[in-house]
Amino acid sequence: MSEFDLVIIGGGPGGYVAAIRAAQLGMNVACVEMRGALGGTCLNVGCIPSKALLESSHHYEEAKTHFADHGIKAKIELDLKTMLARKDKVVLDLTKGIEGLFKKNKVTYVKGRGSIKSPTEVLVDGKEVLKTKRILIATGSEVMPLPGVTVDEKKIVSSTGALELSEVPNHLVVVGGGVIGLELGSVWRRLGAKVTVVEFLDRIGGPMDAEVAKQFQRTLEKQGIEFKLGTKVTAADAKGKGVSLTLEPAAGGAKETLAADVVLVSIGRKPYTEGLGLEAVGVKLDERKRVVVNSHYETEIKGIYAIGDVIHGPMLAHKAEEDGVAAVEGMAGQKPHVDYNLVPGVIYTWPEVASVGKSEEELKAAGVAYKAGKFPFMANSRGRAVGETDGFVKVVADAKTDRVLGVHIIGPDAGTLIHEACLVMEYGGSSEDLARTCHAHPTLNEAVKEAALAVLGRAVHI
Ligand code: FAD
Ligand code: NAI
Repeated sequence: MSEFDLVIIGGGPGGYVAAIRAAQLGMNVACVEMRGALGGTCLNVGCIPSKALLESSHHYEEAKTHFADHGIKAKIELDLKTMLARKDKVVLDLTKGIEGLFKKNKVTYVKGRGSIKSPTEVLVDGKEVLKTKRILIATGSEVMPLPGVTVDEKKIVSSTGALELSEVPNHLVVVGGGVIGLELGSVWRRLGAKVTVVEFLDRIGGPMDAEVAKQFQRTLEKQGIEFKLGTKVTAADAKGKGVSLTLEPAAGGAKETLAADVVLVSIGRKPYTEGLGLEAVGVKLDERKRVVVNSHYETEIKGIYAIGDVIHGPMLAHKAEEDGVAAVEGMAGQKPHVDYNLVPGVIYTWPEVASVGKSEEELKAAGVAYKAGKFPFMANSRGRAVGETDGFVKVVADAKTDRVLGVHIIGPDAGTLIHEACLVMEYGGSSEDLARTCHAHPTLNEAVKEAALAVLGRAVHI
């Protein structure tokens, strides 16, 4: 029987990063993972394979439609098999890399399904017992099912199936206009599919800044994606060659049908706690089935902790990583803190969409007086030089103190640009701090500086 300081259940970005940090802090750590590979949803069927396909499909579309603008002529042909194989290789290399990091840090990797027998005992596949001082639940999330629609991962797919379609569908219908639907919808549209997104709400992209969401939808429509907003899918018939979907207005009303070759169900994810034995040990779940933890990530049962998608907060890989680090540093007696308000969100379409902090709508609802400054990429010289002029940067700052409260970007490389905003907000900085920071010319980042100048009423290039 082995004895550990910490046993982590789940080897995703939350669990594996927590394991490495705990080992750095001198703990004897085991990480139990049941999928046969480390890296969790993110590396195996999430962030990484989707970003690999987004990159490949972006190159394909660029080569097909924009190279000619630069005076480059080429005959372009899609080799989907090679594109998918490249994605699989990227995933394999990265997951193997984590095994290497475990070895380097002397983390014990235990393959199997973990369950909690008691606060000091983890069972592996119901048999082997790992004795431990503490347990960290990092079991992540799974696809939210849609009533009336059965996922077969062939004609009706979740994000996992949508990452490995063996041919480009003629018509892909995406149910749910959130992050997964818009990213993977973009991939298959670029590769030649007609894409229709059916979204329950009257806007896409979830709770993002409303002005950004509007521009985002317009841009995606220009690219060819069709939207049916305020609409829900109530049934799917997959008996024939394709799938026949029954749609209904979200508010109720006349039904219609929509024919698809492939349907992607992407209406959200839910915490994964199946088979963990939480009830028996007394670990509580909230109304959304998330594990309830205190500010130190500890459940009501002493010695049992939880992080990442399985607890509250944004379901993002970097949030899970921050949780993991903070949880184990707390166990080691340090006083870490993760501010969920400063967790950036990025949608890796083209243009990208990125934001951190509060939107104008949230500030209005909270009665906070603010000033907003906006700068379009059309007026950014680097944007013009590279031919990426869609979108804008918006900086929102406290009307009295000028402290930056939120930054929202739609545009080229928005997911990279957002980090100077994260940093300034982490330090409680002002829009004047951003505006007075020397930015290299010509860069896309100058649009961030100009938006900060716009808050102060003195943008230079508009
Ligand atoms: P997970 O990554 O889900 O890892 C949990 C692990 O625990 C899994 O490997 C699972 O097999 C294992 N496990 C569960 N139960 C047990 C058990 N009983 N015993 C042993 N092992 C168990 N986030 C971003 O930040 N950026 C992105 O670009 C992004 N893209 C995404 C794209 C897609 C298609 C999807 C689906 C998600 C994406 N996400 C992205 C979200 C991101 O993947 C998750 O937020 C992140 O993986 C959560 O990390 P985690 O460690 O909490 O859980
Ligand atoms: P999501 O929550 O982003 O979007 C789901 C969408 O489906 C919402 O707009 C919702 O209104 C809609 N919806 C819900 N029920 C519906 C119904 N019955 N019919 C039609 N529409 C319906 O969830 P998604 O896209 O599945 O992603 C899951 C999680 O994965 C997200 O929380 C996200 O954080 C994470 N993720 C992050 C990525 C990134 O950081 N780039 C990429 C992909 C996923």
